Amino acid sequence: MKKRILAAVAIVGLNAAVAYSAPTATAGQGVLNSVHDMRVSANITDIGGNDRVCAFCHTPHHAIKPAAASSYAPLWSRMDDQQTFVAYQSATFDSTVYSTGDAAAGPTRLCMTCHDGSIALDQHYGSANTGTMLTNDNFGGPGVGVNKDLSNDHPVGFDYMAIAAGCGDSNICTTAGTATTPDQYNYIRKADQGLTYRDNPANIKVADRLYNGSIMTCATCHDVHNKKNLQGAETMNYLVLAPQKDSALCLTCHIK
Ligand code: HEC
Ligand code: HEC
Ligand code: HEC
Ligand code: HEC
Repeated sequence: MKKRILAAVAIVGLNAAVAYSAPTATAGQGVLNSVHDMRVSANITDIGGNDRVCAFCHTPHHAIKPAAASSYAPLWSRMDDQQTFVAYQSATFDSTVYSTGDAAAGPTRLCMTCHDGSIALDQHYGSANTGTMLTNDNFGGPGVGVNKDLSNDHPVGFDYMAIAAGCGDSNICTTAGTATTPDQYNYIRKADQGLTYRDNPANIKVADRLYNGSIMTCATCHDVHNKKNLQGAETMNYLVLAPQKDSALCLTCHIK
């Protein structure tokens, strides 16, 4: 709610802010007319003049080559966001298996090409525009995070499989590596046993949403294309892969 009010203020008050109009696509209907259709959510049309939608993120030719060969950039049309992001830290978070050395590993870094508020939404291959920044919902703004800060967000960029294997926390796991069923030893469900998102009608597997088969990213909870997230029950569900109701998303992984 708060976000919508802020967005409404932005439409009235700030030219440079994202002018948010309500997306007409509901959950699961795809990227067209969703929040990730820039014509809808940011009120900007494709600079090529062909009324494209994918072009804001992908290009069939001349895509970027990421700085690191290991980076993920599926025909990425946008700049390579090379910022260093501050990772989540906590005494109870299993940091021994945390570090890939990059809190924004995998798709997370792609999200950040808009959501850290440093690269304009209309800046993509064929468009040098720097007109429209994402000012709310970015991960560099007040109340959300500061200076490329992911430390107050749900942890990403860590090895989910290693944590779920239960080998990291000796207080909880005494029989590491021998579990044959999910839930057996740990407080995180094992994703290599076919674990699916709760109440997701498409039975999406958590393992299929881990980068390189193991790293948790933004895409482990969200579907950027508005396609594999919950269909129907919630009109606006933040693109999450399991319902908000009864915190089904959280309980997909957390044994709580
Ligand atoms: C707002 C940005 C954005 C838009 C718009 C977008 N994509 Fe993507 N796309 C991504 C991101 C980010 C990924 C990385 C994988 C992920 O996050 O799930 C991706 C991955 C992909 C992939 C490779 C992985 C997979 O899921 O198969 C394909 C193919 C793809 N997109 C096609 C499209 C097409 C076709 C369109 C337009 C109809 C489109 N995308 C629109 C952001 C976008
Ligand atoms: C091309 C720029 C762009 C990219 C890339 C992008 N987003 Fe967004 N995203 C937006 C815009 C614009 C909005 C709508 C405006 C707003 O909410 O401030 C938005 C909104 C959202 C929302 C809010 C949805 C809602 O229901 O209100 C979520 C969640 C989200 N994005 C997640 C992601 C994730 C996860 C990725 C990467 C996998 C990603 N985005 C990549 C531009 C982008
Ligand atoms: C553990 C699951 C999870 C992960 C990982 C995750 N999100 Fe979210 N995200 C959510 C949920 C759930 C919501 C809805 C929050 C609410 O209901 O208030 C949300 C909301 C959002 C929103 C819209 C509201 C807001 O607070 O700004 C954006 C944008 C967003 N996420 C982007 C991202 C990006 C970018 C990443 C990666 C850095 C990411 N999310 C990682 C679960 C997740
Ligand atoms: C895809 C699986 C997955 C989903 C979905 C998910 N989490 Fe997590 N979450 C994890 C993993 C794995 C960790 C790291 C666990 C650890 O080492 O303590 C974690 C860490 C956390 C932590 C930090 C724990 C600490 O010790 O600091 C909290 C709190 C948390 N999650 C809450 C949530 C909530 C609330 C939701 C729903 C909005 C959610 N998670 C959704 C997998 C998930």
